[in-house]
Amino acid sequence: ADPDPLQDFCVGILKNASISLNGFPCKPASQVTSDDFFFDGLSKEGNTDNVFGFSVTPGNVLSFPGLNMLGLSMNRVDYAPGGLNPPHSHPRATESGVVIKGKLFVGFVTTGNQLYSKVLTAGQMFVVPRGLVHFQMNVGKVKAMTITAFNSHLPGSVVLPTSLFASKPPIPVDVLTKTFQVEASVIDGIKAKFGA
Ligand code: GLV
Ligand code: MN
Repeated sequence: ADPDPLQDFCVGILKNASISLNGFPCKPASQVTSDDFFFDGLSKEGNTDNVFGFSVTPGNVLSFPGLNMLGLSMNRVDYAPGGLNPPHSHPRATESGVVIKGKLFVGFVTTGNQLYSKVLTAGQMFVVPRGLVHFQMNVGKVKAMTITAFNSHLPGSVVLPTSLFASKPPIPVDVLTKTFQVEASVIDGIKAKFGA
């Protein structure tokens, strides 16, 4: 979903950019080395010790500036047994992924509220159309891991539970009680779980 590049590469300069543009300025070609085009950040298992029991390790332009303006990126996602990548969406990219290990319940919901879902095991692939809400849950007895790919160097992630219950400043309680048709105590209980 990103614009086409206008040059072979534009290794991003992330720091001290004095200008703001749609991407990052390019490192001068004379300073570019092989290291700019390789990234080993996805080799390590992420720490799943959190309320959801999952961890996203991004390989996007921010962690791997060689991807700047090339229109794609990848994530590693680790899941503890029972772990959940909670409902979220990517405003700038379609996602596809492959299960590397474990057993995952994978699903997305259309703008017409149709859920499409399936349980996948190692080697099986899935796709999530751009912008649609989706989730993955580890339904196996052992750890699970996926590699996901996006057609944006920075797909963005809108994570529904944190957008709604852990924004800063918070969404007013009346908005949330009315939205979910519950008492304020229910909203407070949910917020407390996110440390808000
Ligand atoms: C999985 O949904 C991911 O965003 O990597
Ligand atoms: Mn996703």
